[in-house]
Amino acid sequence: MRLDKFLSEVGLGSRKEVKQLIKKGQVKVNQVVVKSDKTQVDPEKDQIAFLDAPLIYQEFYYYVLNKPAGVISATSDPVHRTVLDLFSSEDYRTDLFPVGRLDKDTEGLLIITNDGELGHQLLSPKKHVEKEYFAEISGIMDQADQEKFEVGIILAGEKMLPAKLMIDEVTAVTSKVRIILQEGKFHQVKRMVKACGKEVTYLKRIRMGQLTLPVDLKKGQYRALTDEELVKLKE
Ligand code: URA
Repeated sequence: MRLDKFLSEVGLGSRKEVKQLIKKGQVKVNQVVVKSDKTQVDPEKDQIAFLDAPLIYQEFYYYVLNKPAGVISATSDPVHRTVLDLFSSEDYRTDLFPVGRLDKDTEGLLIITNDGELGHQLLSPKKHVEKEYFAEISGIMDQADQEKFEVGIILAGEKMLPAKLMIDEVTAVTSKVRIILQEGKFHQVKRMVKACGKEVTYLKRIRMGQLTLPVDLKKGQYRALTDEELVKLKE
């Protein structure tokens, strides 16, 4: 990779800015000052330093965000606040994206990464990665609904993969449930509940694959995944 690209990727500044740092002789490759931004470097093998401080290259970034209601799952938007607007300027990168979409009013676990391959693996219906939601429902969900979920609810003529409905609590007119999906179609939970004649009034994703939403992560907060969590997510 070109030296200026490397410096920009580790966050030293824009391509234009880092070229100036190189020109000023502030950058060393393997202990030697280099003055050409076109110098080719191998981030795995070469030691690259700025003002003698070694620079560590990281190709992929993985964050877990507790999405609050009111922000959209997009990378940018001229009108609405997006999940990436919640990132600090130190952590923000233009190549970050949310893995899948949660509706504007849905809360909970959202992975933000620049690893397109992982994003694809987590979302592909062929991979059957479970997504678990907690939902509050207007109406009483019952065993008949559980059976419908298990068989596969038909939405707009398409049969959904079998899903799991766990009923945690019911009052006279409401229910609290957990729902496990193997796919992520548009408004899927809300539409499946509607197909049972009831309505979702609150929705939060609490798990993706083996990764559960960290209990200490407040709404709107995010943090880098630990190595352990990343292994869980890739399982
Ligand atoms: N299902 C929905 O209906 N909405 C979401 O945000 C996620 C799953």
